[in-house]
Amino acid sequence: MRALTGIKPTAQPHVGNLLGMIQPALALGSSHDAYYFIADYHALTTMHDAEGMRRFTREVAATWLALGLDPARTCLFAQSDVPEVTELAWLLACVTGIGALERAHAYKSAQDTGKDISVGTFSYPVLMAADILAYDSNAVPVGRDQKQHVEMARDMAQAFNSRFGEVFVVPEPLIRDDVATIPGLDGRKMSKSYGNAIEVWLPSKQLRKKVMSIVTDSRGVDDIKDPDTCNVFGLYKHFATPEQIAALAARYRQPGLGYGHAKQELFEVMDAQLAPARERFEALMASPGEVETVLAAGAERARGVAKGVVGRAREAVGFGRAPRWSRS
Ligand code: TRP
Repeated sequence: MRALTGIKPTAQPHVGNLLGMIQPALALGSSHDAYYFIADYHALTTMHDAEGMRRFTREVAATWLALGLDPARTCLFAQSDVPEVTELAWLLACVTGIGALERAHAYKSAQDTGKDISVGTFSYPVLMAADILAYDSNAVPVGRDQKQHVEMARDMAQAFNSRFGEVFVVPEPLIRDDVATIPGLDGRKMSKSYGNAIEVWLPSKQLRKKVMSIVTDSRGVDDIKDPDTCNVFGLYKHFATPEQIAALAARYRQPGLGYGHAKQELFEVMDAQLAPARERFEALMASPGEVETVLAAGAERARGVAKGVVGRAREAVGFGRAPRWSRS
């Protein structure tokens, strides 16, 4: 079974990305033939900053490697290193109705901003379908917000197959329903756009500062507190051991624990867990050649697969005239 997913290089990864996406995807890499790519073509719909594109691309790659992705097993690559997907996007665009694209939630919310929308943003789902179909992907692990895009990729695969023959594998979305919503600093879902994120690679001192800024209620040291509604505890649960979780919950329910103490406990478990990976991340960022070597090897492998699939699609639509030469 092949699993494929893309990660846009538009921001430093935060703890919500780590727990909700990166860790589950790393786990999936041991049971699946995993292809994970940095979706730089897609990032270009919103990010017009070449220096930022290069930096975030390197950071995303270094993040996955620092957290344990084994590049000998999982294929890690940059989307734009496989230009065949843009060709495939054209073939798919020709079997896709404008109506389907107009119904995409992401397009509709872009419309709500009232700004002029680029053709790239409008056809985002076509490019995403090309990503998925170019690698004969069976499973596409994504968050809820991307489910509709994967369904559109299924529709495009079926539309193409029914006109031109069985060229594409029809993929399934793999929605991470079991992952809890990770609270941000203000208790809303952690998200870059809410400005409530804790970045994964903050140095210890800044990490501590961020943790200390988590919003709590006004209960004092000697008040009884409810761990289940507390943002600090909501994060603690994801980093501490079951024993530590039970022990801190018990302290919430007795006098004597201030939120400052709880935050210190949270900082300590987070820092202990992130520090070794942070060191690897920093070392990778300091030697870009290493990351580049991994991405180059990933691109070569990914491109080999995509060339085969796109070749099938080209032949199916009548390009290259292969059936005629193969007859001679
Ligand atoms: N659109 C996805 C996101 O914003 C990223 C992405 C691009 C992707 N291509 C993909 C995800 C293909 C899964 C498969 O998160």
